[in-house]
Amino acid sequence: MRPAPPHIAYADGIIEILDQTRLPSEMVVVKLRSVQRVIDAIRGLKVRGAPAIGIVGAYGMCIAARAAGGVARNADDFFKVLDDAGRAIGAARPTAVNLTWAIEKMKRHGREVSATGQGVVQLVAALEEMARSIHADDAATCRAIGDAGASLLPTGAVVYTHCNTGTLATGGYGTALGVVRSAWNAGFLKHVFVGETRPMLQGARLTAWELVRDGIPFSLVTDSMAAALMRRGEISAVVVGADRIARNGDVANKIGTYGLALSASAHELPFYVAAPISSIDVGIASGSDIFIEERDGIEVLEFAGVRIAPAEARAANPAFDVTPAALISAIVTEMGVLRPPFEPAIIAASAGGSATSALT
Ligand code: MRU
Repeated sequence: MRPAPPHIAYADGIIEILDQTRLPSEMVVVKLRSVQRVIDAIRGLKVRGAPAIGIVGAYGMCIAARAAGGVARNADDFFKVLDDAGRAIGAARPTAVNLTWAIEKMKRHGREVSATGQGVVQLVAALEEMARSIHADDAATCRAIGDAGASLLPTGAVVYTHCNTGTLATGGYGTALGVVRSAWNAGFLKHVFVGETRPMLQGARLTAWELVRDGIPFSLVTDSMAAALMRRGEISAVVVGADRIARNGDVANKIGTYGLALSASAHELPFYVAAPISSIDVGIASGSDIFIEERDGIEVLEFAGVRIAPAEARAANPAFDVTPAALISAIVTEMGVLRPPFEPAIIAASAGGSATSALT
C-alpha cells in the first residue's frame, strides 16, 4: 500500500492538503497559496471535518498575514487585512465552530504580539508558530479523546460510526474514529459499521479508506441500514463526532446523526459524541441557535458525480442536523467524559476542567 502524504502541511506561505474529494481513487496533493484558494478548498470539501478546517483556516491566516505584511503601512492596516481574511474564511463553512475558533485565536495572538512592539516579520513568524501549535495540539487532543472514549466500550464492541472523523478530519488520529482506533489497539473492538453518509459519502470514501489502511475490520452500510442493524442486536454503541456543541449539550453534526441518535435511543444503545473542547460553543445556549449550512442541491441530485434525479427535480441539502442533548449518553473530550446534565460539565470543561465533579 502506497504511504499517504501528510493530509495537511504548511511551509513558507503555502498550505498543502491531500484533496479529500479525490479519495479513495487517487492521492492528490493540492497547494494553496492565497486566501481565496483556502476558501475554495474548504467550501469545496477538498479539506473537511471540523478540526481540519480549523487548522487549515489558521494556516490561511498565515497566508493573509504574509500578504498584509507586504502592503500594510501600519498595524491598523495589517489587522484590517487579517480581519477581512478571517471573516471570509470563516464564512466558507459556518456550522463548524472550530473554524472560527482557530481564526479568532490567530487574530488574538497577532494583536498580543503586536502590542509588544514586534515588527511585521516577527508577527508573521509568531502567527505561523501559533498555527503549527493549533495543528499539533489537535493531533494530541485526538489521542486523549480516543483513549477516553475507548474506555466506555465493552469487550468485543461493535461500533457504528457516521461520516469521517478520522485523521483526514483532524490534526491526526481522529475523534470518533480515534475512539475506534484506541479500542482496536487495546484489543476490545470487534467490528465497525460505517454509514456511507449521503450525500457526499464521507463514510464510504474516507472512513473506509482510513480503516482499510489501518487493517481494522469494518462493513460499509447505507445510512438506511442503521436502525435494522440495531434492532438485530448487531451494534454495541454509536460513536460520532461534532461540528458545534451548544452549552446545553445539543450537538450539530453531519446530517443523519439525529436519526442515528433516535434509533440508538429506541434500542437502548449508548450514543457517544467524541469531540475536542474547541468544538464547544459556550456562547450558544442550545442547538436551535446553531446555524446549519445549506449546500448546493446538486450534491443530492447526483451520486458520485452522476445525475440520478430527473432534470426537473429540486433538492434540499442541509449539511448538518442537531441532536438534542437528551439523546446523548456522553460527550468524550480531551478533558474527560462529560455526562448529563451536560451544561455544568460543559461550562467546567470549557473553563479548563476545574469543576471535576462534572467530569468522570
Ligand atoms: O461536511 P463535513 O464532511 O465537513 O462534516 C464532517 C462532520 O460532520 C464530522 O462529524 C465533524 O466535523 C467532526 S470531524 C472530527
